[in-house]
Amino acid sequence: DWDLGDWVESSVASIRSKVGDDRVICGLSGGVDSSVAAALVSKAIGDRLQCIFVDTGMLRDREAEEVLESYEAMDLNVVHVDASERFLTALEGVTDPERKRKIIGELFVRVFEAESAKISDAKWLLQGTLYPDVIESGHQGKNAAVIKSHHNVGGLPEDMDLKVLEPLRDLFKDEVRAIGRILDVPQDIVNRHPFPGPGLAVRCLGDITKEKLDVLRKADRIYIDEIKRAGLYDSIWQAFAVLLPVYTVGVMGDDRTYARVLALRAITSSDGMTAEWFRFPMEVLDRVSTRICNEVSGVNRVVYDVTSKPPATIEWE
Ligand code: XMP
Repeated sequence: DWDLGDWVESSVASIRSKVGDDRVICGLSGGVDSSVAAALVSKAIGDRLQCIFVDTGMLRDREAEEVLESYEAMDLNVVHVDASERFLTALEGVTDPERKRKIIGELFVRVFEAESAKISDAKWLLQGTLYPDVIESGHQGKNAAVIKSHHNVGGLPEDMDLKVLEPLRDLFKDEVRAIGRILDVPQDIVNRHPFPGPGLAVRCLGDITKEKLDVLRKADRIYIDEIKRAGLYDSIWQAFAVLLPVYTVGVMGDDRTYARVLALRAITSSDGMTAEWFRFPMEVLDRVSTRICNEVSGVNRVVYDVTSKPPATIEWE
């Protein structure tokens, strides 16, 4: 059995000897992988690690603020780039999921490159690649059918002249979480559900507008808050709301409404490759649905996704 405390010590030593006196750049996403990778490298080389956090505007409610506060508590050097307007503009009118991914992936690289060009003398790019990521890209290489392009925000800009540092590439997610705890990474980052690089863009089906994103954020916040209140957050691999481009008829008081449908998804999984839909206690779903219809204008119907993976994927797009 692996002792993860020893792993941390030997990894820190090997990062130090590899990197020497060089500077390292890291794209932080707020997720477990990039945050733990940054905590580890910061332990090894201190403020010669420079992190860049790009806000794509496709994040959850108050996520950018919360994540930046955690990074401050971790004493990381972080540049915050708010590129949300640029992403919204680039995505205007786009409905195809793969085009959304491509646009976001490419714009992310451009924004990231522009920012890292300001950090002179950096030699390394730190990435939070895990073992399942290594395997999955292998799979996709062998199989003709790529299901989703998985543009991982934080991915390597290909023409950047940097060496890649991937200290987590032999690890699974639960090991990364354990290492995060050893390194005192804040709980809400360590236990955070995985979040796709393209973010809410693939959870807002059809074209993306600021107004729809705000409706989705409000509903998603209620859903996640109620899951946490019920003590279920850590039993779930991923939970999120999806705003559908479908209108249905409802009734409010004496009036007919015609508003959007919101889908709720929650799954359990050990690596994201397969997943099972989560069996909620009915009263939790009931509370979430009631609150969303009462508090989120623009939604008058809530449905729960009872499909596992396969045949469905975790995300709806
Ligand atoms: P699917 O939807 O393919 O998702 O079952 C499997 C896992 O990958 C995440 N996901 C993505 N992550 N860029 C990412 O970085 C993407 O384009 C992307 N699409 C899906 C998804 O949230 C789940 O954890």
